[in-house]
Amino acid sequence: MAIEKTLAIIKPDAVAKNYAGKILAQIEANGLKIVASKMTHLTREKAEKFYSEHVDQIFYKPLIKYMSSGPIIVKVFEGDHAISNLRKIMGATIPSNAKEGEIRKLYGNHEPVNGTYENAIHGSDSLESAEREINFFFTNDELCERI
Ligand code: CMP
Repeated sequence: MAIEKTLAIIKPDAVAKNYAGKILAQIEANGLKIVASKMTHLTREKAEKFYSEHVDQIFYKPLIKYMSSGPIIVKVFEGDHAISNLRKIMGATIPSNAKEGEIRKLYGNHEPVNGTYENAIHGSDSLESAEREINFFFTNDELCERI
């Protein structure tokens, strides 16, 4: 057992299409537990800070526009190998490359939009990014203990 915490963002496209409940149900059905939760609308500046590691990528500007285009739902999930488990359920970054049944295949936009992919969900990719991303959105007292 390796109990980890990871950050998930239900992105603006998925919130707008009312897919949040289905996506969260799929993650919970895989054994991960919600330990923190909020809904927010990222400013451009906040989106730029969150995705600063991608600043040199060609898709950075479209990504910032996309991520600040509407409200998002942010969750911290906890569970055994939560980081890799969530990424497995999400599927590949590009929705058309995800496998049948994976979240991005089911709920992402299979066509690129303005130079980026509306892929429905973000999940932390390592222990280090999970820690940074959780601290980006939540204070310690916003994290709840679960049995
Ligand atoms: P996410 O997992 O949130 O991490 C960075 C985001 O940038 C990614 O999901 C996509 O929305 C977007 N992205 C990643 N790779 C590409 C790419 N090759 N072209 C366009 N957008 C991308």
